[in-house]
Amino acid sequence: MMARMLAVVSGSLLLALLWAGPRSTAARETGTAGAGQPLSLPSSLDLLYPPQAQGPVLLLAMHGMNTALTGILVDLFEEDWPGVAANCESFQVRFEETSALVPEWKDRFDREPVTGLGHAVESGEPDRILGAVQDVGAVCHHCHVDNMVPVQQKYHWPDFGLITLEDPILRADMGYPQFMQMLNVSLTGIGVDVEQDQPENARVHLSALKARMSELTNSCDACHDTARAYFVDQSVHDLITQLEALLEAPQPDALPRRAWPTSAANGSGSANRGHRPSPGR
Ligand code: HEC
Ligand code: HEC
Repeated sequence: MMARMLAVVSGSLLLALLWAGPRSTAARETGTAGAGQPLSLPSSLDLLYPPQAQGPVLLLAMHGMNTALTGILVDLFEEDWPGVAANCESFQVRFEETSALVPEWKDRFDREPVTGLGHAVESGEPDRILGAVQDVGAVCHHCHVDNMVPVQQKYHWPDFGLITLEDPILRADMGYPQFMQMLNVSLTGIGVDVEQDQPENARVHLSALKARMSELTNSCDACHDTARAYFVDQSVHDLITQLEALLEAPQPDALPRRAWPTSAANGSGSANRGHRPSPGR
C-alpha cells in the first residue's frame, strides 16, 4: 500500500524534474534567466508583440485573415455571391499584408493556393470554391503546426525562468528547477529513510514534502487563473495525508528499492506534458 503510494508520488516528481530541467539549460546558455528563446522563432516577431508593439499585431492579423477566409464559406452557404467575392478580395489583401509582417516566413505564405482561390470564386462553382478554401487552409495549418505553440509560449505566457518560489524549509528564494530538486529530496528521503529503518527521519522528510507541495500549489497562480487539476490538486494532497498516517506506525515496513518506478501512471503526467519545453526553451 505504502509502496504503491510512494511510487505514484515519486513518479510525478521525476516527471517534474524532467519538466524543469531542460528549461534551466536554455537559461544558462543565453546567460540570463528567462531570456531563453525558442531557436526556431524569427527575431522580427519581437516587433509584433508587446512591449515593442502596442498589441499582438501578428495575432490580430491572423484573426483578420481568418474572418475573411471563413466569411467566404459563410456567404457561399447563403448563396450571397457579392459577399463571397468581397470576402475573397479582402482575404487576398490581408494575406499579402500578413505575409509582409515576418520577412523570415515569406516562403511559408504560399501564394499559389490563394491565386487559385480567386479563380475558383470567379468560376462561381461551389465545389471548386470549397476545394480551394481547403487548399489555402493547408498553408495555414502547416505553419501553425510548427509555430503556433512556440509563439504562444514566448509571447503570451510568463516565463518559468522568471518565476521564483520560496523554499519553506531552507527559507530561500529559488527557481523552479532547484525547487523541484528540493521537492524530490523530501520525497526520496522518505523512502530512503524508511528503508534504512529511520522512521523519525522519514517523518521529517514528509513534513518538508507537505510544506513544499503547498508552496508549489500556490506557484501555479503565476500563470493560471483557474484551479489546477493534476499534480497539485486535492487528490495528490490527500495521498500525502494518507502517507502521513502510514508513517505514524512505530516501525513502518521497509520498502524495497525496486518498488519505486520511474514513470507515473497517474494524472499528474498531464500537467507535465502540458509543460514540455519547446525547442530551445
Ligand atoms: C507563417 C506562419 C503562419 C501562417 C502561414 C498562418 N499562420 Fe495563423 N498563426 C501563426 C502563429 C505563429 C499564430 C499564433 C499567434 C499568437 O498566438 O500570437 C497564429 C495564430 C492564428 C490564429 C489564432 C488562433 C488562436 O487560437 O489564437 C488564427 C485564427 C490564425 N492563425 C489563422 C490563420 C489563417 C486563416 C491562415 C491562413 C490563411 C494562417 N493563420 C496562416 C502563424 C501562421
Ligand atoms: C510560467 C507559466 C506557468 C506556470 C507557473 C504554470 N503553468 Fe501550467 N501551463 C502553462 C502554459 C503556457 C500551458 C499551456 C497552455 C494551456 O494549456 O492553456 C499550461 C498548461 C497546463 C496544463 C494543461 C492544460 C490544462 O489547463 O489542463 C496543466 C494541467 C497545468 N498547466 C498545470 C500547472 C500546474 C499544476 C502548475 C503549478 C505547479 C502550473 N501549471 C504552473 C504555463 C504555466
